[in-house]
Amino acid sequence: MKKALVTGVAGFIGSHLAERLLREGFEVVGIDSFEDYYARWIKEKNIESLLKNKSFIFLKKNISSDDFFNLPQLKSFDCIFHQAAQAGVRKSWGKDFEIYTKNNILATQKLLEYAKEKDVKKFIYASSSSVYGDAKSLPFKESSPAKPFSPYGVSKLAGENLCYLYFRNFGVPVVSLRYFTVYGPRQRPDMAFHKFIRGIILDEEIEIYGDGTQTRDFTYVDDVVEANILSLNSPPGEVFNIGGGESISLIDALRLIEKLLGKKAKVKKREPQKGDLQDTLADIKKAKRIINYKPKVKIEEGLEKEILWIKGIY
Ligand SMILES: NC(=O)c1ccc[n+]([C@@H]2O[C@H](COP(=O)([O-])OP(=O)(O)OC[C@H]3O[C@@H](n4cnc5c(N)ncnc54)[C@H](O)[C@@H]3O)[C@@H](O)[C@H]2O)c1
Repeated sequence: MKKALVTGVAGFIGSHLAERLLREGFEVVGIDSFEDYYARWIKEKNIESLLKNKSFIFLKKNISSDDFFNLPQLKSFDCIFHQAAQAGVRKSWGKDFEIYTKNNILATQKLLEYAKEKDVKKFIYASSSSVYGDAKSLPFKESSPAKPFSPYGVSKLAGENLCYLYFRNFGVPVVSLRYFTVYGPRQRPDMAFHKFIRGIILDEEIEIYGDGTQTRDFTYVDDVVEANILSLNSPPGEVFNIGGGESISLIDALRLIEKLLGKKAKVKKREPQKGDLQDTLADIKKAKRIINYKPKVKIEEGLEKEILWIKGIY
């Protein structure tokens, strides 16, 4: 049986990925430090079904901690899926940048040191569209300049650069996946769709930063998970955009959510936030060509699933 390590396993994407790996017949060790970026009860719920599976081991641990390497459960792995990070653009300014350097840069470097010593067949790094920054020409290609627009983007790019240099210097077989705004069941509570759906259901005011014309390439979580699985067969050292294939403005997405819920939102417009991008759109030709990545879930279908989940937790 193949063994996989999933970091950030109690998070939105990590929990879905671990479930899929178990279905594919992997033994999975999942690590999460339960960072307090959002409510712990949500993370505990995310791993509820994983904890019932005999092929799953959970470790509550921060990867950057010194005794990380010595844990007996971490003897060997075929592949590592590094999903752990301090997420979110808006919180990454000021003093909080320390948390981002620890969880996104230092933690990634420690994990790469660990992978360097082991015979890992693939090390897949969850990167982000935020590495591109506020680039003017769309869609973003992997060859477009990487000039982040937020401290969070800087930390994710630093992690990606570390991955590449451990590949070039030590042959760690890394693949970096630049995710574009992921949504679906378990989406983080700080993310727009989660806030929109929750606000409408609970009759709470929804804040929109800027005029709502900013566009995003939204990617359904199952498509992101599939990209991780496909990357197991990628040549090492590659970087791929993982997008949903189409973009939609925030305001149009809100209208669509209102239609699906049959209820209007109470909207409050706020100043644009520092670090937020105006538009994102992924060129996914490279991922199609090399790993045969094809996003399958359309926005309306994906939103219906997220709505069902949110109705179940609040
Ligand atoms: N959600 C998106 O739209 C999106 C877009 C681009 C990139 N990403 C990347 O995808 C990954 C997963 O994002 P998510 O939305 O699931 O976030 P999430 O916050 O739900 O999950 C991340 C998990 O990692 C854990 N964690 C953080 N630092 C850790 C550390 N040092 N050691 C152990 N655990 C740690 C957190 O407790 C959390 O449960 C992240 O790397 C993020 O940067 C996400």
